[in-house]
Amino acid sequence: MLSELLSTEIARLGLQLKMPLHRQLYEALRGAILDGKLSAGSRLPSSRDLTRDLRLSRNTVITALNQLAVEGYLVSHVGRGTFVNERVAKAPPRRRPAQPSQETTLSHRGQALLKTFCATQLEIYPFTPGIVDFSAFPVAVWQRLQNKHWRMTYPDMLDYSYSGGYAPLRRAVADYLRVFRSVPMDVEQVIITSGTQQSMELCAQLLADLNATVWLEDPAYWGAVKAFMATGLSLHPVKVDENGMAPRAEDEATPPRLIYVTPSHQYPTGSVMSLSRRLQILSIARQHKAWILEDDYDSEFRFSGAAISSLAGLDCDERVLYMGSFSKVLYPGLKLGYLVVPRGLVASFKQAHYDLNRPGQIPLQAALAEFIEMGHFASALRRARQSYSERRCCLLEALKPCLGPAAHISGAEQGLHLCLNLPVAMDDKALTQSIGALGLTVRPLSAYCLDRKDATGLVIGYGYAPLAEIERYGPVLAKAVSAALARLSTDPVLSSSRKF
Ligand SMILES: Cc1ncc(COP(=O)(O)O)c(C=O)c1O
Repeated sequence: MLSELLSTEIARLGLQLKMPLHRQLYEALRGAILDGKLSAGSRLPSSRDLTRDLRLSRNTVITALNQLAVEGYLVSHVGRGTFVNERVAKAPPRRRPAQPSQETTLSHRGQALLKTFCATQLEIYPFTPGIVDFSAFPVAVWQRLQNKHWRMTYPDMLDYSYSGGYAPLRRAVADYLRVFRSVPMDVEQVIITSGTQQSMELCAQLLADLNATVWLEDPAYWGAVKAFMATGLSLHPVKVDENGMAPRAEDEATPPRLIYVTPSHQYPTGSVMSLSRRLQILSIARQHKAWILEDDYDSEFRFSGAAISSLAGLDCDERVLYMGSFSKVLYPGLKLGYLVVPRGLVASFKQAHYDLNRPGQIPLQAALAEFIEMGHFASALRRARQSYSERRCCLLEALKPCLGPAAHISGAEQGLHLCLNLPVAMDDKALTQSIGALGLTVRPLSAYCLDRKDATGLVIGYGYAPLAEIERYGPVLAKAVSAALARLSTDPVLSSSRKF
C-alpha cells in the first residue's frame, strides 16, 4: 500500500521536477506524513523492504530516511524499527492558496505606493523619456577594467564598504563636481550610493521623522514621490512654473522639513530654476531649518546657454544635500550614484548608510574610478553630448509643424527629454495611448502631477532613439499631436498651453 503510494508520488515528482531520486523519495514520504496518509506513530517498512518494493538503491532509501530523521519527521528505535514521529501534527490540507487581493495583503503604504504613477517597465522605444543610449557604452574597455580589478581583488574589497565608498571614486566625483558643478566640498563629503533613489531614502530616513513634511515639485519625478512615501513622509506639492519650484505664502503654512528640487532641469517640465528662486528656496530652508535635496540628474547634458551652477554652490548655510547619478552618462543598471552631504552630517550619514544599506560593490567602484581617471568617462560624455545634441535638434525640427499658441516646448536646453505643453482641455493620457498604438512611447505630463490639474502635455525623450529613428518617427509624432489639436475646442482660453 505504502510502496504503491510512494511509487506514484515519486513518478509524479520525477516528471515535474528535476531532482535526484533520494530527494523524490524524501518529498514523497514527507508529503504522506504531512497529509496524514502516514499517521503519527505508524511504523515504516524496513529500508531493505522499501529498497526492494520501490526498486531503488539502498543508498537512495537510506539517504532519504536519514534526512527525514534529522528534520524530526521520523524516529528510529534500535531493534524496533523506524516510526513517524508522534509529535508531527497533521498539517491542514495542502491546497494552492487563492490569489490574495492587494487590499488584504499589502499595507496601506504598500497599496498607495503601487498606485502612484511610475515607469512600470523598461520601455525601449523611440521617445521614451529617461532612457539613455546604451549602445554607445564602451563595453570592451569596461570589461577589461572590471577583469583587472577582479584579478587584483584583495579580501577587503569583497567586504561591505564602511567609508562611504571606494576612495579613488569619491575623489574622482569630488574633482568633477568642484570643477563642473561648482559644488565646494571635500572628498570626505562624498558618499557613493546605489543611485539617486537610495540617496533620497537615506536623506529622508536620517533627516525627517515619520509624517514630517517634504515639499516637492508639482509635477514631480515619480521616483522621488515613491522614495518619500516609502519613508513615511507627508508630501506637500508646490507648483512649478517656468522658473522652477514656485512657493507661495500658503505653502509656508505647511513648513517643510525637506525640500526636494531638480533646479537645473525640472523633471518633467524641464524648467530651469532662476537665481531669484534659488535664493528664495535657500532662504525658506534657512528660516524653517529645513534641508534641501538637490537632484542634479542630467546636468551633464547642457545644449544651449551657459551651464547653470548647482544650488549647492550657492549654499552658505550647509543646508543642501546634492545628489547625482551615473545612470544617465553610463547605464542605469550600473546602479551607482553619489550624495554630497554637509560636513556636519558626514559621520552620521556614513554610519547610517553602512547600518541600513550594507553597501558594497568595491571592485565595481574601483573599475569606475579608473574608467574616470583614464579619461573614458570624459570621452563617453563628449560622444553622448554630441549624439544627444543631434537627436534633440532633429526632434525639435520634427515637432515644429505642431507648435503654436496651443503647443509649446519647454526644457529642451538640457537633458535627454523635453516637454511639449498642450492645452489644459487636451486629454494627454488618451493622446499618449493613441501615440502608443503607433509604436511610440511618450508620457502624459498630467500623470506626473500630484495636486494640480492645469499641466497637460507630452514628456518626450530623445536619448534612446538613434537619429534615423527620430528622423523617421518625429514627423509621425508631430502629425498625431497636430490631429489631436485640430479636434480640440476652438475656445482660445481652453486651447492655449501653459508656460513652463
Ligand atoms: C529626476 C531623476 N532623478 C534621478 C534619476 C536617476 O535615478 P537613479 O540614480 O536612481 O537611477 C532619474 C532617472 O530617470 C530621474 O529622472
